[in-house]
Amino acid sequence: MNSFVTSLKILARTAMKSKLIFTCFSLVGIIAVIISACNQNSNSAANKPVVAVDSIWHAPDTSSISGNPDATLIRYGQKLISNTSYYLGPKGTVAQITNGMNCQNCHLQAGTKPFGNNYASVASTYPKFRARSGSIESIYKRVNDCIQRSLNGKAIDSNSKEMQAITAYIKWVGKDVPKKKVPYGSGIKELAYLDRAADTIKGRFVYEQKCLVCHEKNGDGMKDPARTGYLYPPLWGEHSYTAGAGMMRISRLAGYAKFNMPYGTNYPNSQLTDEEAWDVASYINSQPRPTHDISSDWPDISLKPVDHPFGPFIDNFPEAQHKYGPFKPIAEAKKRLKKA
Ligand code: HEC
Ligand code: HEC
Repeated sequence: MNSFVTSLKILARTAMKSKLIFTCFSLVGIIAVIISACNQNSNSAANKPVVAVDSIWHAPDTSSISGNPDATLIRYGQKLISNTSYYLGPKGTVAQITNGMNCQNCHLQAGTKPFGNNYASVASTYPKFRARSGSIESIYKRVNDCIQRSLNGKAIDSNSKEMQAITAYIKWVGKDVPKKKVPYGSGIKELAYLDRAADTIKGRFVYEQKCLVCHEKNGDGMKDPARTGYLYPPLWGEHSYTAGAGMMRISRLAGYAKFNMPYGTNYPNSQLTDEEAWDVASYINSQPRPTHDISSDWPDISLKPVDHPFGPFIDNFPEAQHKYGPFKPIAEAKKRLKKA
């Protein structure tokens, strides 16, 4: 299958040269379908859904946007999420304030894909207290967090048309979720901790077998020559997410990869064992990337998640263990501390 994917990719490159960008996008689709077909045969028993897949959260039907008084704003918000770079990237048509990635690179299908890091429970849970900033955060603040940390960009004004559009769209995505509820399928699926530390050497092997074909040897992805965005977004290097981003916690990256990568994988299917997901996440996050000033993060360090990779910590576990695990001893020590 790998050689088939490779030849499709060569085809994609050729098509790109002749500016048949559309072909490239459909090729990504075809690759995805092939991969998920292969996947269903090989791996379905190992990944039985915990609940019936039809009881999983699904986004509202986009046809329902028309009935909304804010329809135009919501549709603009959807475009800003799926094609961020076109509007706000290095050659953005509205402003040049982000690194060329799209929100959708990490919030798949514009934040509507079950366990694809979607926005299901943003409207239902915000504003809320977040330990990273130690404050009650609005959706505006949370969106700007991702703009600054994941897109290595500049925050946008909450009154701007763009911020209003992004938040109107995110609220539309979560409009059917009751206040305070987090439906099954929301966000990223949590994976069980391994009993060992994630292994960057094994992770590199997984990367070479299952990710490199699209994200490239140096992890810098592949640009889309016709636009400012990427066909395959960068996983590390100067154009990728910063060290202050959520993806820097390997639990986030492992959970995202397990049910979404290689591209076209859909929950409950997976092409990665849990070990492979943790290991590849550790390899990716051991690579260089832009820094971000996190000096005022976590004013209460006791609230840091166990896999937050930067000290100071409330416990005596070394920074490397907070980055790669094993996490169980840290989680247990945290529980004991809470009880005391
Ligand atoms: C490099 C990947 C990446 C990119 C690009 C990215 N995000 Fe995020 N985003 C994340 C991760 C990881 C989380 C945290 C998920 C978690 O905690 O489980 C997150 C969380 C969020 C949340 C809160 C979700 C929740 O349920 O609490 C919002 C809202 C959000 N992002 C909006 C955006 C917007 C808008 C953009 C584009 C301007 C964007 N993100 C770009 C990775 C990314
Ligand atoms: C068939 C091509 C393909 C393969 C193989 C692939 N990816 Fe991706 N990946 C993509 C595409 C395309 C996106 C962006 C999705 C979008 O914008 O809708 C993406 C996005 C991502 C992102 C979030 C965006 C970013 O740049 O940080 C991560 C993390 C990621 N992939 C990890 C992996 C890992 C880990 C593997 C291997 C297990 C892998 N991918 C294999 C195509 C691929």
